[in-house]
Order: sequence, then C-alpha cells, then structure tokens
Amino acid sequence: MAIMEILKYPEPVLLCKAGMVHQIDGALQKRIDDMIETLYAVPGLGLAAPQVGDSIRLFIYDMSLHEKEVKARKGPLVVINPEIVAMEGEDLSEEGCLSIPGYQEIVKRAYRVQLQGIDREGKEIRVIGEGLLARLFQHEIDHINGVLMIDRFSSLKKDIFFRKLKKKAKQDGSF
Ligand code: NI
Repeated sequence: MAIMEILKYPEPVLLCKAGMVHQIDGALQKRIDDMIETLYAVPGLGLAAPQVGDSIRLFIYDMSLHEKEVKARKGPLVVINPEIVAMEGEDLSEEGCLSIPGYQEIVKRAYRVQLQGIDREGKEIRVIGEGLLARLFQHEIDHINGVLMIDRFSSLKKDIFFRKLKKKAKQDGSF
C-alpha cells in the first residue's frame, strides 16, 4: 500500500467529469487500498478518485474516523459508480475539502439523500444518509463530476475565495 498525493485546486483532473468503472480488477483493488491508506493518513472523512489523479467514478468514506478508539471505527466503505437517486430537505453547514486545504465555508446541501452504487466486491449498495453523511455523499459525487464546493458558492463568496487564493499564492510564491 502507498500513501498518494492529494491533488489541490486548480489541478485539471479535479475539474473533469470522471468516467464509469467497467471492471473491478486487481489494479483497481490496489488503487482502492492506496486511497484508504491515504484517507487514514490525513485523516479525512471521504476521498474521491479524481483527488488522487484517477478520473473514475469512485469514492471512499469512513464516518467513524472521528472516534478516538480505533476499535470503535467501522472501517472504510467503497462506493463505485455512485448515484444519488433521491434527495430531500435543506441543510446549511460548514464544509471543507482536502483539495482546498485550510478553507471552510457554508454550503447549501440536501439534508437527506439516498445513494446507490456498488461496493468493491461488485455488490449493490443502497444507503440513506442524513446531515453530515448526506453532505459527504453530495460532496464526493460532485468531485467525480468535476464540481468543487467553490462552484456552489454565490458569486460574492467566489470572489472572496479567489482573492484569498491569490494572496496565499503570492505569499507561497507559487503563482
Ligand atoms: Ni473534497
């Protein structure tokens, strides 16, 4: 297993719509294991394949990562070719993204969503998420559609974000 680099905005692969997974083979299983190791190294709650440079429709998550007791953790869940089949309600909460480090902002999301996909064994998954889990599902599916949380901002918030980004880039000398 290997820890991979998490790509940061504005890396082009983060802005592309990812392709469907057609085959769950050994190479994909290895990629999934590397993604899990990378997520746990951060640690983060969720990671989508484009964030490690793979333009495929896949994400992993582990909502139990905030548990201090390792044995209370439930282990990562892998969702391949995910789709939101139903959503309802509205929720305004702060959100962050591993590809936009150090930046948190209120994003409007559905409060409850039904997610469908397949797991790494090829079995069908159906999960209903509420609150933070529903937010995570919407955030990760946005990632595989090439959409970042900043695309969900109002134009005013977007302006502020880009100004902060430019200032930070000047300080780091990366522009
Ligand atoms: Ni993200």
